[in-house]
Amino acid sequence: MRILNASGCLDALAAPEVARQLDAFVTKTVTPEPREGNAPPRIAETAHGMLNAIGLANPGRERFLDDHLPRLRELGVPLWVSVGGFCADDYAETCSRLDDIEAIELNLSCPNVDEAADSAAEIVSACRRATELTLYAKLSAAHPDVAEVARAVATAGADGLSLINTLRAIALDRHLRPALARGSGGLSGPALKPIALHAVSVSHEATGLPIVGMGGIESGRDALEFVACGARDIALGTVLFTDPGAAGRVRAELDAACAEAGVASPEDAATLAKSPETERKVPA
Ligand SMILES: Cc1cc2nc3c(=O)[nH]c(=O)nc-3n(C[C@H](O)[C@H](O)[C@H](O)COP(=O)(O)O)c2cc1C
Repeated sequence: MRILNASGCLDALAAPEVARQLDAFVTKTVTPEPREGNAPPRIAETAHGMLNAIGLANPGRERFLDDHLPRLRELGVPLWVSVGGFCADDYAETCSRLDDIEAIELNLSCPNVDEAADSAAEIVSACRRATELTLYAKLSAAHPDVAEVARAVATAGADGLSLINTLRAIALDRHLRPALARGSGGLSGPALKPIALHAVSVSHEATGLPIVGMGGIESGRDALEFVACGARDIALGTVLFTDPGAAGRVRAELDAACAEAGVASPEDAATLAKSPETERKVPA
């Protein structure tokens, strides 16, 4: 089990010592054009998580390739580049311009941009034609049947899945108005964990693809639960805002979490949580 960061939750150039604790660093999603993102306020706290409406703020493809990527390479950490866009060609063009990185993560699931993207499978197919690099498809759990989307992107050529992105939500301020300028945003943090575990479990059963599990992971026990549901690797997101040392801590907690669960190693926990729902193979 490797520990990555969740896209958008760590600026490796600003905090290189945090990035070096990771087994691989995943960039913020890169879009063809630079994006300022949404107007502030674009972050709000909720009882069991955090709401954000950053809106894919990023320097754009050209500046990323010319300036950010060379500096990220100097970190000496394996790199994953998160790719976004508004149609299949946007994604494919960026994929075709990338080389010498460990993987590409296709962000097929950002709740904070309005433009409708082409279907997930269409985007993955276009990217598959554009690159031979390892392609992970990052999916949302907002779809009523995430296993169906997982199957579709697997057929289209994805090598792995990243699950899950934030879920659309609203938080209100003291005067009962939306706390975020945009109105709604993406919910992350502990509230997501049970939803993410389900998405990982059914997607693993549907595809057998390697999965990076994420959504509210804060401890070694949380990480182990994702592995038990079928994740090969895990990513830390919101927890990094309050505990930048979380990767080292989670790794250190794994032995105790394994002992408590009665398994020798995280690998021995793999798919222990196989659920009757996935065994029935019929909708509940
Ligand atoms: C502030 C913030 C920015 C994010 N930006 C991105 C992004 O650019 N691309 C992406 O695929 N996911 C993005 N995400 C989603 C995370 O990568 C992750 O899927 C989600 O937060 C669930 O994990 P967590 O509960 O551990 O944070 C962002 C999340 C947060 C909180």
